[in-house]
Amino acid sequence: MPKLRKAVFPAAGLGTRFLPATKVMPKEMLALVDKPLIQYVVEEAVDSGIENVVIVTGRGKQALEDHFDISFELAQTLAERGKESVLKELNKVHNLAQFSYVRQKQALGLGHAVLVARDLVGDEPFAVMLPDDIVDAEEPCLKQMMAVYEKYQAPVIAVTQIDGPEISRFGVIAHEKIDEQTYKITDMVEKPPYQQAPSNMAIIGRYILTPDLFPILEQTGKGTGGEIQLTDAMKKLLAVRPFYACKFKGKRHDAGDKLGFLIATIEFALKRKEFSEDLRGYLKSLKL
Ligand code: G1P
Repeated sequence: MPKLRKAVFPAAGLGTRFLPATKVMPKEMLALVDKPLIQYVVEEAVDSGIENVVIVTGRGKQALEDHFDISFELAQTLAERGKESVLKELNKVHNLAQFSYVRQKQALGLGHAVLVARDLVGDEPFAVMLPDDIVDAEEPCLKQMMAVYEKYQAPVIAVTQIDGPEISRFGVIAHEKIDEQTYKITDMVEKPPYQQAPSNMAIIGRYILTPDLFPILEQTGKGTGGEIQLTDAMKKLLAVRPFYACKFKGKRHDAGDKLGFLIATIEFALKRKEFSEDLRGYLKSLKL
């Protein structure tokens, strides 16, 4: 299997779970502390060895392109004011990777968003990373998955354990356990009713996929929620090639959800040395 160089970031969604904040602002630009969600996920990709970032955008998502571009005026102003350390942080952003953009003209589902990136991905393996899912991990989640990909030379999906009815909000796998961190996938289903979920292992928004998925995606019709589902296409590919799941070490935050976003904000802020003491003190003072 060739080396994984490219990652696709579906970012054309309407952000309906986060209105009114996302009426004109892309949800991917919501910031945890001071960094937009999309940047956390792009950094995870780059820290895992990804060189090419493909962002699938849509109407009203111009801010994403601007964020990863050079901001000449801002850079010049910071330089004139001697704000060297801020300037350094700013320059890091556009130098993270090689960026390409493609538009998904209609929000037809995650599977469709991935298909739109087909020409930019070409005939090589690729990662798919959902900017709503922020994974706080010592070793980047995608890097953990790459180890599985390299060992088994096969597609890999990240999973996490979700107990209880909440499982029906995810893609869910059936599996055979290989070890604590690795499973061989035997089936998968998108958002099953709680009682019909094949396990408590939920798919989270990190995938390593092979280009033979594209012709399958092209043939995949609408599934759950009337959308073209990535899970449905992967299930078809599973019939012809093995798939693995990586139960990554780390904590996943659903930052596309208001409560999930608040929790992630607090946790990330507590990890920052400039805020941790004051914030901790403040939270304690609330005597909840
Ligand atoms: C998507 C996938 C689902 C996965 C989830 C992870 O669903 O379709 O299989 O479990 O992301 O966040 P969405 O949350 O976009 O509806």
